[in-house]
Amino acid sequence: MAHHIGILTGGGDCPGLNAVIRAVVVKAIKHNGWRVTGILEGWKGLLPEGSTRPVNLPEVSGIIGLGGTILKTSRTNPTNDDQQMNAAMQRIKSLGLDAIVAIGGEDTMGVAYKFAGRGINLVGVPKTIDNDLLGTDYCFGFDTALNTVVEAIDRVRTTGESHKRVMVVEVMGRHSGWIALEGGIAGGADIILLPEVPFDMDDICSLLKKRHAGGKDFSIVVVAEGAQITSKEPRANEDVVTRDEGKDAFGHVKLGGIGRALAQEIEERTGIESREVMLGHVQRGGSPTAFDRYLCTRFGLHAVRLIEEGRFGYMVSYQGNRITEVSLAEVAKGTKTVPRELFDEAAVFFG
Ligand code: F6P
Repeated sequence: MAHHIGILTGGGDCPGLNAVIRAVVVKAIKHNGWRVTGILEGWKGLLPEGSTRPVNLPEVSGIIGLGGTILKTSRTNPTNDDQQMNAAMQRIKSLGLDAIVAIGGEDTMGVAYKFAGRGINLVGVPKTIDNDLLGTDYCFGFDTALNTVVEAIDRVRTTGESHKRVMVVEVMGRHSGWIALEGGIAGGADIILLPEVPFDMDDICSLLKKRHAGGKDFSIVVVAEGAQITSKEPRANEDVVTRDEGKDAFGHVKLGGIGRALAQEIEERTGIESREVMLGHVQRGGSPTAFDRYLCTRFGLHAVRLIEEGRFGYMVSYQGNRITEVSLAEVAKGTKTVPRELFDEAAVFFG
């Protein structure tokens, strides 16, 4: 049984990180009498330039509803460099950690899998507003982001309706369109564009023209930042719009801006006045919903349970209303994308 565990939050932040930290710390310290060390700023905390500190019960008191992460986060990827991996391994040894709870998304789970391969006792907890991790029905943070998106669409709708405009709402989602799909349906969007299903610009414009000719005088288009928009006509804008050329440590380009390009092109092609709203990091901020707080708490408790049982190399998961676990090897196989049949359900409401 572990007596000293490390805990870290890696990758983009999201609502619910603190709720998981609280559950892990309360169970580990109050219930089991263990020690907990916070590894600060994700995997960076294990590198020579990084830092760690003890986490105790008073620090996690009252943080269940607090957004962000008290442990800070970064997109540091030590697996890019053997020296960094060795330094991190050394740090884990010198701290005397019996196990580590890594809370993060696809990238963090990928790093966790590599450390597990080197013999470190690791347990993952699935975080991401994108909801795109394999092996779990839900990642925490997704429900909160969805509610933020729906509230935003509701607000955008009243102004769009007043001005008789097409309102394009850009949401996050690089490779997976779960936020666009579920947020779009719940917000009553007239068109939803996802990374998984290429959509033709001509079809978008003819749907909108038909809708407006048929008596509607405003429209809501929800577009995921990584959506694929094609066209028979040559277009000025790329299929995927990037904010800049930079890539992060995991090789991801920084997306953002597809909404603006889309709104401009819709206005040019249809003659209907259009505006865009990029929800961006608003989706990642703020207080978690009740669903996420409960999910996070159960995830945190299960992570400690796995450590108690000496079962490592797993990510806790939510499957059919049960909290269980899935191997990190399984999670590392790819990402969970929106299946075609769910897009077809959304398309029933298009136009
Ligand atoms: O965490 C995933 C995500 O929310 C993506 O949907 C988005 O592309 C990315 O984070 C943005 O990250 P950053 O905070 O580095 O701009």
